[in-house]
Amino acid sequence: MAFDFEMIKSVYARMPERVEAARKVLGRPMTLAEKILYAHLYENPVKQAFERGKSYVDFAPDRVAMQDATAQMALLQFMTAGRDKVAVPSTVHCDHLIQAKIGAKADLEEAMSKNKEVYDFLASVSNKYGIGFWKPGAGIIHQVVLENYAFPGGMMIGTDSHTPNAGGLGMIAIGVGGADAVDVMAGMPWELKMPKLIGVKLTGKMNGWTSAKDVILKVAGILTVKGGTDAIVEYFGEGADSLSCTGKGTICNMGAEIGATTSIFAYDDKMKAYLQSTGRADVAAEADKIREYLRPDPEVYANPEKYYDQIIEINLSELEPHINGPFTPDLAWPLSKFAQAVKENNWPAKLEVGLIGSCTNSSYEDLTRAASLAKQAVDKKLKVKAEFTITPGSEQVRYTAERDGILDTFSKIGGVVLANACGPCIGQWSRHIDDPNRKNSIITSFNRNFKARNDGYASTHAFVASPEIVTAFAIAGDLTFNPITDTLTNENGEQVKLDEPQGIELPTKGFAVEDAGYVPPAEDGSKVQVIVSPTSERLQLLQPFPAWEGTDLKGLKLLIKVKGKCTTDHISMAGPWLKYRGHLDNISNNLLIGAVNAFNGEANKVKNQLTGQYDEVPKVQRAYKAAGIGSIVVGDENYGEGSSREHAAMEPRHLGVRAILVKSFARIHETNLKKQGMLALTFENPADYDKIQEDDTIDILGLTTFTEGVPLTIVLHHKDGSKEEIKAKHSYNAQQIEWFKAGSALNLMGKLMAK
Ligand code: F3S
Repeated sequence: MAFDFEMIKSVYARMPERVEAARKVLGRPMTLAEKILYAHLYENPVKQAFERGKSYVDFAPDRVAMQDATAQMALLQFMTAGRDKVAVPSTVHCDHLIQAKIGAKADLEEAMSKNKEVYDFLASVSNKYGIGFWKPGAGIIHQVVLENYAFPGGMMIGTDSHTPNAGGLGMIAIGVGGADAVDVMAGMPWELKMPKLIGVKLTGKMNGWTSAKDVILKVAGILTVKGGTDAIVEYFGEGADSLSCTGKGTICNMGAEIGATTSIFAYDDKMKAYLQSTGRADVAAEADKIREYLRPDPEVYANPEKYYDQIIEINLSELEPHINGPFTPDLAWPLSKFAQAVKENNWPAKLEVGLIGSCTNSSYEDLTRAASLAKQAVDKKLKVKAEFTITPGSEQVRYTAERDGILDTFSKIGGVVLANACGPCIGQWSRHIDDPNRKNSIITSFNRNFKARNDGYASTHAFVASPEIVTAFAIAGDLTFNPITDTLTNENGEQVKLDEPQGIELPTKGFAVEDAGYVPPAEDGSKVQVIVSPTSERLQLLQPFPAWEGTDLKGLKLLIKVKGKCTTDHISMAGPWLKYRGHLDNISNNLLIGAVNAFNGEANKVKNQLTGQYDEVPKVQRAYKAAGIGSIVVGDENYGEGSSREHAAMEPRHLGVRAILVKSFARIHETNLKKQGMLALTFENPADYDKIQEDDTIDILGLTTFTEGVPLTIVLHHKDGSKEEIKAKHSYNAQQIEWFKAGSALNLMGKLMAK
């Protein structure tokens, strides 16, 4: 059994008591998200009500899931934490590194040989530390989690932005960076700003061509890509209970497109049926016993505006199918207006490829609804005009769909079944196109459609819709086609119409699979060797960072004074560098190469104070390191915003930067720096930024009495012999000061474990 039934039972056993205690503290009825959050506080019982959107709270999630790209550095770090096993059930899913080229079998074989060392590492490290391992080809992380691990009332984190997919099964599931996964696997608290709550009330019942996907496409249009920031979106109302569990999953998955922390539905009979059909009737039976704790309090339904920070209402009976795009998922078009939008905006009307499936939309229901259209195309003698691909979300779905003839139906319209992996959804698509610069259109049932996301070509106009709309458009080969009102000409020259899609929510013969692709870890991993070749270019075991030397830091060289925006992408670029995610030394060659030097306005060109010459940032820093000289990076406002990539904090640490001094930090990056044993400091007076000169040598004083709330002193030694003193603030608490002293949070953890 892949899932941990005992863990789920213990979560349910303590949930009523914890929720009651929280209700007392809050003194009012509770929403579902609040119930789950308060039941997962790191420290219980609850002592205070937390302010939404303000308070930072420590949580204890039940599970961790990692995909293969982000798992590498997370697990390399975890190995230094001194634990024998992960503290909570955790899994690794090999889904991101498989490139879609020809079809499932050949693509998987190629990935297995190309990524062998990464897979060998992930399999062996999982085996050693008690982590469930899902092999390449087993499926996409979010679909596998929904089928096996998600449970109503649970809380998990996952190292992928679409982790909220598990909200379809009533779980608070949040996408995080690798550093957070390490904390939870190491048994440390996980911090989150108490989210605000957006309630989406669904009334009516869906019909015809409309599907669950259209709910989130509509919500994305209303809230836009930023509208859900720092909020949990909670769906409720009779319309919510009428949606299939996997449909709910689709909606929660794409909550990431509005920036939401996560999205969630309450436990209901649809979830119960899904649990039963995926071999988890015992979980459903346990959930039934505490059903009232897995749903919002009835008063919340009665007066939602009192309990949510914002309310949106959608009538499913009136909801039209939507098509969103191009280039952004919040540009929402109802089907009836789309053809006109295509013409007015001069988007290529000819559809070249329709792609269904992915983590977002590859449920049995999705596939049967799309297949019902494919079958009509065959029966009604329609020649399918566009290319068509299917990405099953898991081997279980693929095997069941094959058994039930669904894949065969797709192959009759020329559909190509790709590997059970991310593939084109994450840009792992070697698309064959005559001219990559030619403006062209594709449509997918995936979640993201940013420029170049799917095939790497900026000229591709990618639209997002439900699998049934994608299939209908692929048949027509035309984006101005409206399947509800328009006819198509068939091979006999007759005008034919597509009937409404018909789907089957759950397979009547049950799900089946021969080899799901799951490898359980060893009971006792102590003898298991983790496989990392010392000559590997992609993987490198981590050495613990050195502890603080116990003195003030003197004689630091200014590495760069960054001007303007500096995101984690400027600090540690993605793209071609992604292949070095598991090799700290190699990926460090991208350190700050995107940041603009305030002294010359150029990127990746800074003065080497030892030679007076200008060179690339990583090269200059390596020169300081070789000379045994520490350095300092100075930054502007909101330094380190963007993705929570831990490499952006590890790289400067690895190359010997000692402190980052900025006008202000993006909070997650600031915490990541602290975790890696760096000094993350802010100017007490932001105008002091201007005092930093290109040839400065800098001292940081006050470290021997480093205390919470007490600023440090910075001495700037200018080239002309003058010096200035300024103050630097910090936000280290007592625990974080110990991280600094130990060299990193993991060093401290390792020390504690050794005791
Ligand atoms: Fe993410 Fe798509 Fe894979 S959204 S998990 S890339 S299938």
